[in-house]
Amino acid sequence: MLQTSWYKDAVFYQIWPRSFCDGNGDGIGDLWGVLERLDYIASLGVTGIWFSPLYPSPQADFGYDITNYYDINPEYGTLDLFRQVLNGAHERGLRVIMDLVVNHTSDECAWFQESRLSRDNTYADWYIWRDGKTPGAPEAGGTPPNNWDSLFEGGAWEYEPARDQWYLHIFAKKQPDLNMDNPQVRSEVKKIMRFFFFFCVDGFREDVITYISKTPELPDDSPLKPAARGMRYYDHGPRVHEYLREFRNGALSHYDCMTVGEAPMITPQKALEYCAEGPNQELNMVFTFEHMGADCFFTEWIPRPFDLRIYKQALSRWQTGLAKGAWNSLYLENHDHPRIISRYGSEEYRVESGKSLAASYLFLRGTPFVYQGQEIGMTNTRLESVEESADVSTLNQYRRYRYLHIPKGTLMRLVNRATRDHARTPMQWNANQGAGFVGGSGNAEPWFPINPNYTSINVEAAEADPDSLLAFYRKAIALRRKLDVVRNGNYREFKHHSSVLYAYARESERQRLLVVCSFAGKLAYYSASDDYDLRKGELVLANYADAPLQGNAFFLRPYECRVYLWKD
Ligand code: NOJ
Repeated sequence: MLQTSWYKDAVFYQIWPRSFCDGNGDGIGDLWGVLERLDYIASLGVTGIWFSPLYPSPQADFGYDITNYYDINPEYGTLDLFRQVLNGAHERGLRVIMDLVVNHTSDECAWFQESRLSRDNTYADWYIWRDGKTPGAPEAGGTPPNNWDSLFEGGAWEYEPARDQWYLHIFAKKQPDLNMDNPQVRSEVKKIMRFFFFFCVDGFREDVITYISKTPELPDDSPLKPAARGMRYYDHGPRVHEYLREFRNGALSHYDCMTVGEAPMITPQKALEYCAEGPNQELNMVFTFEHMGADCFFTEWIPRPFDLRIYKQALSRWQTGLAKGAWNSLYLENHDHPRIISRYGSEEYRVESGKSLAASYLFLRGTPFVYQGQEIGMTNTRLESVEESADVSTLNQYRRYRYLHIPKGTLMRLVNRATRDHARTPMQWNANQGAGFVGGSGNAEPWFPINPNYTSINVEAAEADPDSLLAFYRKAIALRRKLDVVRNGNYREFKHHSSVLYAYARESERQRLLVVCSFAGKLAYYSASDDYDLRKGELVLANYADAPLQGNAFFLRPYECRVYLWKD
């Protein structure tokens, strides 16, 4: 099969299905809702959709705990409905990629249900089972095979009396890790891929794919390590490249598809091992975490105020680091991070900072992803108590820190800073009760409380305002898709040391684009270099009505951004 690089011209919209749009009026987002909103998605100018997991799941981690990889969660619809959504998307020129979660399954998955029954059934070796260091149940003094931590929930091992053994779970207890060293498991992964290619999906976002190979001896980690003990033995584990190549040769390479692998702790150097273009390429790109101010899920709990210099450094490092030979992914939000305006921008200058943030990443080299609600500037919500959280990671982190006697007030501040709930409040479609999220009569309780600011921040209001953030996203995406230099140009950063401005250029032989973004609520000054004569450039995008210049310089108003184009 001829593999093309269509993904390099793509712009994706991420749907986290539970909170996108409820079509059948039960308060839970679903595929009926997606079907209704396909025109809206296409109207953004994006060219693809990434679906967070749609599969049946007990929802311990909202679909990242799958019971059946070959079906659709009945709350979201059916395979037939999925086919309709897929056809509807394709008719509108939208590609569709699925979430592929194969580091772990749900503990309610039939494979695990059988695996846990005995040491010699068909699925006995599908998960990572080991004898305890000290034999027996924990109540009887038995101890786990090693000292690893799970990232979501205490220790990484859970005891199973029927086998008198422990299973490994890097995430929550309800997410047992698959044993990728078992060839049957790898065959199943390829089967899942082919199943969805048969439906004509266009690729996969591969969940924590860099964790799938564990050091077989599963050695103890240093007891002095404060958290995430064990990670060094499974992050970029010994056979990960071998397995990814097997998936490529055995399934992916037969289709003109794309893959983006989630890679929590990764450097550009390491990313090249996965993504360097050539016969051994394993993934088309990776999702990195560095520009999100966190290198892994739980480190977001460590309070670090936004520092523009760190953000810029991370972006520049990745832009230049992959320039020769690999492709970048670009994102500011997804279902795992708080809302970007609340985090990196300003709720006071919500629209201005939302636009500046958009410009700061949409013209970089790579494939951009826009998360549902980001385009209308949804902001963080507020939890009064931890019981209001629906997020397994938040609840467990809270318990862990309570155990260390950190006062409740301090902890709630951390929760409100870091919880994934912020990204998961229902999409705000209009100012009516239910925010237009709840379908049917609109009277059902939404599964998670809608952010009270839906009365002013919603799609309908944004559609009515030509200066809205939504309108800006549409313009910026259209511009990005029109300009060759955004796909092919070199990257050059200016004012590297500034703590208020991010300025970068994309340069090719025939076009040059200069993007200048302010991240300050006060005036900032930008003077362009001599080879960028602002008076001769065309202002192609801005977030203020006028754009006065002072010679070859200008003052930026709060969160102002400007994009200039030169056609040489
Ligand atoms: C990464 C996903 O994005 C996140 O939502 C999930 O909790 C973990 N992987 C575990 O699957």
